[in-house]
Amino acid sequence: MTDPHAQPHPDAGAVQPIRWEDDRLLLLDQRVLPFEETYLACDTGAEVARAIADMVVRGAPAIGVTAAYGVVLAARRRYGEDAEGWRAALTQDLAVLAAARPTAVNLGWALDRMGRLAADLEGDPVAALLAEARRMHAEDIAANRAMGEAGAALMAGGSGVLTHCNTGSLATGGYGTALGVIRSAWRAGKLARVFADETRPWLQGARLTAWELTRDGIPVTLLADGAAAYLMHQGEVQWVVVGADRIAANGDVANKIGTYGLAVAARHHGVNVMVVAPTSTVDMAMASGHEVPIETRDPAEVLGCGGRPVAAPGAAAWNPVFDVTPAELIDAIVTERGVVRAPNAERMRRMMGAG
Ligand code: MRU
Repeated sequence: MTDPHAQPHPDAGAVQPIRWEDDRLLLLDQRVLPFEETYLACDTGAEVARAIADMVVRGAPAIGVTAAYGVVLAARRRYGEDAEGWRAALTQDLAVLAAARPTAVNLGWALDRMGRLAADLEGDPVAALLAEARRMHAEDIAANRAMGEAGAALMAGGSGVLTHCNTGSLATGGYGTALGVIRSAWRAGKLARVFADETRPWLQGARLTAWELTRDGIPVTLLADGAAAYLMHQGEVQWVVVGADRIAANGDVANKIGTYGLAVAARHHGVNVMVVAPTSTVDMAMASGHEVPIETRDPAEVLGCGGRPVAAPGAAAWNPVFDVTPAELIDAIVTERGVVRAPNAERMRRMMGAG
């Protein structure tokens, strides 16, 4: 009998959604997955900002890495136009990139890091900035690998897990945050079942998470977002495992809309909640989740599905794309620096200071 856990090494045929090739940035267009695998080429910082705003690339760490390459493109153009005044001109590009999406703090984190480096460079800045973007990209993958192991270690054998949105290779530099934990736990033979919310309105779960997991040979069962509480009631899941777009200093977590509802339902049913995110997602300048800017997108995304209208003409729609889960509903936050159980301000401070 074949052991389903012994199937292809998870992430073996890893997808590379962010590629620097022939002096340009190639982004796997996540709007058309899983049915089309096409790359969008970006040659300027403005094109990168548009690709982030339009969801060609999405997921907090992936947005940060993409923006870093966007700074390389912007600096190349500015330096070509004016080898003396390029640094001042670059600040405009940094502002355009920063405005692309408001909630994922990885975007500002990556731009600050690239901007600080740019301020100190003499001569042609491209090689040094590209090396830094590549370094950020590699660091994110390494962080995901570490979090994968640390998160999987928290789970008992035979666990059922439910995840939300897409937090895999597509949403990060590679491997994934919550999906990295699921990959590692699956490989360790700890998971009985993997469930994924379809994640309306962009269907990141149905289109992207299911695509990644099936490519890895990890069986996944999709459910409508509204079915999650009933799944917990059935005793099918022991862990809800999600990513984050911004974690405040007190451990409150902003993540894909629906995460808060999952955490409330999980507490009611005695299901554990694990948030998996690199420290580039932690915003110690934000005291609590109340301060996190929550992106609201076009109502048309709710009024339609896959570009086709589904709602009765004349209906309005509210489309916040993130929500905030209070720290008290979270059992563990897993970062590359360690695990914070029952997060609060003091424990978060200790973890962030730890290295
Ligand atoms: O709107 P999206 O698809 O960018 O939202 C993504 C999420 O909410 C993810 O859960 C989060 O960015 C973590 S990705 C590792």
